[in-house]
Amino acid sequence: MALVIWGCGGHGREVLHLCEQIGIEVVGFLDERPAYKGKMVDDIPVLGDLHDILELQNKVKIVCTGVGDPKLKKRLALKTKTHGFQIADTLVHPSVFISKRNSIGMGSVICEGTIITTNVVIKDFVIINRSVNISHDDRIEDFVTVSPGVKLAGNVTIGEGAYIGIGSSIREKTTIGPWSIVGGGAFVKEDVPEKTLFAGVPAIFKKSLYYR
Ligand SMILES: CC(C)(COP(=O)(O)OP(=O)(O)OC[C@H]1O[C@@H](n2cnc3c(N)ncnc32)[C@H](O)[C@@H]1OP(=O)(O)O)[C@@H](O)C(=O)NCCC(=O)NCCS
Repeated sequence: MALVIWGCGGHGREVLHLCEQIGIEVVGFLDERPAYKGKMVDDIPVLGDLHDILELQNKVKIVCTGVGDPKLKKRLALKTKTHGFQIADTLVHPSVFISKRNSIGMGSVICEGTIITTNVVIKDFVIINRSVNISHDDRIEDFVTVSPGVKLAGNVTIGEGAYIGIGSSIREKTTIGPWSIVGGGAFVKEDVPEKTLFAGVPAIFKKSLYYR
């Protein structure tokens, strides 16, 4: 079944690129911003919001991981289910080896060059961007976004909705709390509580994200 991707911004276009690499047809983008409706983005039409494509309900599946912000991703996933649309299967670049000892949930994307070793759990609506290194016994909960080049040592847990910034590294046996952010380039050596921003080398508390 052909796909429609939520979000015609940078990450949505990255997901279009991934679909082209896999060989899956994309018939449009969805975007809540009215100004984008009817525009062409990377040669693909922006169809509008879900109510604009009701006639496609049983003809397409929807990719909800075309937006990087975990909170927006969660809202769009719930909205898509509520409107009765089918969620796209998890998209995995052909370069990525998923062993029988790994568990991958629904509606996620795993991009080119990522390495996943043994006994890894990746749940639903997770973005694993390009060249991410995921080690043994890691667990990545729903709606997490992992940016390009991140390195997770073994036994790392990333809580629901956390955002892991580009090029950061997470020490073994560390937990990143739900809805927290790790800044780009960080080295995380201790647990990060929920809804907090940690950044730097080593990563330290920067601020509370109570609003997330
Ligand atoms: C963390 C981030 C999201 C900024 O969040 P923010 O809420 O705007 O944070 P602020 O700019 O208010 O910064 C808060 C503090 O954290 C520091 N900080 C922010 N990002 C940092 C980083 N990556 N490394 C070190 N310190 C950082 C700021 O200097 C500031 O420090 P101070 O209070 O000592 O002055 C952003 O800096 C970042 O790292 N983004 C990663 C982007 C990415 O991964 N993109 C990939 C797209 S595919």
